[in-house]
Amino acid sequence: MRLSRLRRSTPFRLAVAYALLFVSSSLLVYLSTYFLLRAEIYSTLDNSVTETYSVIQSSYAPGDIEDVVQSMNSFSRLQNGDRRIFYLGSADGKRLAGDIAKFLPTTGLQTISGEALGLPGDDHFRVKTGTIDGNNLLVGESLEATEDLAQIILANFAWMACFTTLLAVFAGMFLARRAHARIDAIAEAMTEITDGNMSRRVPLKGSGDDIDMISAQINSALDRLSDVMESMRQVSADIAHDLKTPLNRLKLILEDASLRDENKQPVQEQLRDALIESDQINETFQALLRISQIEAGARRTRFADVDLNRLVSNVVEIFGEVAEDNGQKLSFDADRAPRCHIEGDKDLLTQLFVNLIENAMNHCPVGTTIQMSLQRSEDRCSAIVADNGPGIPAAEREKVFRRLYRLDKSRHSPGNGLGLSMVKAIADLHGMSVEIQDNHPGSRFVLTWRNPKPIN
Ligand SMILES: Nc1ncnc2c1ncn2[C@@H]1O[C@H](COP(=O)(O)OP(=O)(O)OP(=O)(O)O)[C@@H](O)[C@H]1O
Ligand SMILES: [Mg+2]
Repeated sequence: MRLSRLRRSTPFRLAVAYALLFVSSSLLVYLSTYFLLRAEIYSTLDNSVTETYSVIQSSYAPGDIEDVVQSMNSFSRLQNGDRRIFYLGSADGKRLAGDIAKFLPTTGLQTISGEALGLPGDDHFRVKTGTIDGNNLLVGESLEATEDLAQIILANFAWMACFTTLLAVFAGMFLARRAHARIDAIAEAMTEITDGNMSRRVPLKGSGDDIDMISAQINSALDRLSDVMESMRQVSADIAHDLKTPLNRLKLILEDASLRDENKQPVQEQLRDALIESDQINETFQALLRISQIEAGARRTRFADVDLNRLVSNVVEIFGEVAEDNGQKLSFDADRAPRCHIEGDKDLLTQLFVNLIENAMNHCPVGTTIQMSLQRSEDRCSAIVADNGPGIPAAEREKVFRRLYRLDKSRHSPGNGLGLSMVKAIADLHGMSVEIQDNHPGSRFVLTWRNPKPIN
């Protein structure tokens, strides 16, 4: 992965932003902790100086400065690594006790260099002064140990800050690279798909994170797209295949008519046949167009409450007589059927039942009984169209829903092979499933709606 590309990527920018935030907040914490600790050790030193001063001062008994000198000397002897300094001198500058040459008066606690007090080295001291019985008293403690401790703490925090920064930068880079690699994998898959490999899908990590979720959504959109493309390809192939015969027939009829016309023979019959043939072709195109419109979903805006019981009763009433004329029987027991209300397009649902009834009438012999019924449970409602005709073999039950697909035995009966495609398109539009079952004998079309309207 090129660094310039990585730098432009969102994961990289996010990682840098988080690393900066992490480093600056860590620095803030380290610095504030350092200053707090430093203040604390300096205040411990000040307390120690003040305490020593108080102890020495309290050893004074009026008129007896000797006790003060003794107390100071015992403190001097007790030096335990922390360098302490003492001074006791008369008002005219005469040193009575202590280990510094010069006396410098202070207000409260003050930091004074050893040099100013006439001491060798470059140490600094916290010093407190005052007077006892007209004499000057000075108590001080070296800052060296305290400054060393502050230095150690500061160095420690500096190392920790370096480590935190490195950790933030490397962890950020690692996470950015990982996220970028997954985005790259999506881009790679999309490029391959754009180049024509419609079977390619975005790889999933299986962690269920947001990138996985987006990838799964892209994959299901691609599935849908390839289904649509496959069905378009199928339609084109079917149209080319199934319309070839009627178009050839039309051509032959017209050639025949033209030959007869040249021979001054009547052509009425040929023209009538040509008209029937072109009507048939036109009908096929109209039906294909209608199915595409239904599949596009625009009719959903016309959805309203549909009483299935009443709709089926109406269809049966109209087609009952046609079936009787065909020597078949169409029945529906409206009184015993449960009440089913759904949201849908009444005209399309009527068309759906008409197609199923017409199929049973056209593809079943005389004497067939076509039985319509409704079933309902708490969460679903089914409409069933069953006949005791020849049935549809199990292997063909998926295929009959394809456009222009007809069983071989129906090739010579009228029809385009589009009736069930329309049934499927209408069913999909209404979110219902269509299943063909064996009616022993015959076929049984079961349409199921999930979540119909509640029974009042
Ligand atoms: N009830 C049925 N019994 C037996 N076969 C059936 C039945 N319904 C459909 N078929 C078979 O399924 C095929 C597809 O049906 P479809 O309704 O799609 O087309 P069609 O009836 O042949 O033509 P169209 O409906 O366009 O006039 C039919 O040709 C027929 O072979
Ligand atoms: Mg049909």
